[in-house]
Amino acid sequence: MKLDKKRIVITGGTSGIGYEMVKLLHPHNEIIVIARNAKKLDDLTKKFQNLIGFQADLSKLGDIEKVGKALAKQFTTIDVLINNAAIQNTPRFIDDDFQYDRISPEITLNFTSICCLSSLLLPALTHKNKAVILNINSGLGLSPKTSSAVYSATKGALNIFTQALRYQLETTNISVQQAFLELVDTAMTIGRGKNKMTANEAAITILKGLEQGKLDHDIGKVKLLRFLLRLSPSLVAKIMKKN
Ligand SMILES: NC(=O)c1ccc[n+]([C@@H]2O[C@H](COP(=O)([O-])OP(=O)(O)OC[C@H]3O[C@@H](n4cnc5c(N)ncnc54)[C@H](OP(=O)(O)O)[C@@H]3O)[C@@H](O)[C@H]2O)c1
Repeated sequence: MKLDKKRIVITGGTSGIGYEMVKLLHPHNEIIVIARNAKKLDDLTKKFQNLIGFQADLSKLGDIEKVGKALAKQFTTIDVLINNAAIQNTPRFIDDDFQYDRISPEITLNFTSICCLSSLLLPALTHKNKAVILNINSGLGLSPKTSSAVYSATKGALNIFTQALRYQLETTNISVQQAFLELVDTAMTIGRGKNKMTANEAAITILKGLEQGKLDHDIGKVKLLRFLLRLSPSLVAKIMKKN
């Protein structure tokens, strides 16, 4: 799909990789951003002419339903839905500061909101032209690390959901794609890792894969991870566990 004159909905477009995708897409497309922070969303709509912002906390079921229904009402057609927003909580279950009440919002944002928005926006995505649902995934969806147990699990679930939804929609105009990222230098990874991919590089690569119609797009070191998983899953588990 050529990303030109398309109506694109992107979650979490106010910072990190989402923001870089917005910058790349905005000049040639109609962009609708869903994000939580009203001030950041306001700054974004001021900066980019014609960009439409919808404020919603996608870790809350009520907000997901409200924003999904509002979008479906306002826009009869949507060409691309990019499910990008996510959080990653890192305390371990045995840590003293582990917060039980942060489990559910993390699952809702990283996984449930994607299932719900896919359903609520399905009528708008269904039309005579090609449409794409692109889910932003992680190498941790293929093999978990010790911390971020819930995050890794939501990304693993997202991988399975993406494949199954792809089967369900294979006779329609909608292609269901996912991009698996390595470590990227954003607010999510502050203080972690070295030699990280920049958010701009990640955004350019994701969008190239979208245009090329790559269904499961492994980016950077995820290519090696997938290769090693075929050769020796136990070696991969040993490496990833240390992260
Ligand atoms: N960074 C990495 O190393 C890495 C690696 C693999 C995969 N990924 C994936 O890449 C995607 C983007 O991550 P990133 O690193 O760019 O993260 P980021 O810089 O932390 O940005 C996250 C975005 O999500 C939005 N968001 C957070 N909580 C939200 C909520 N409750 N409701 C609505 N929006 C919310 C934020 O908007 P507000 O500021 O308005 O809340 C922000 O725009 C995620 O799916 C992540 O899992 C990242």
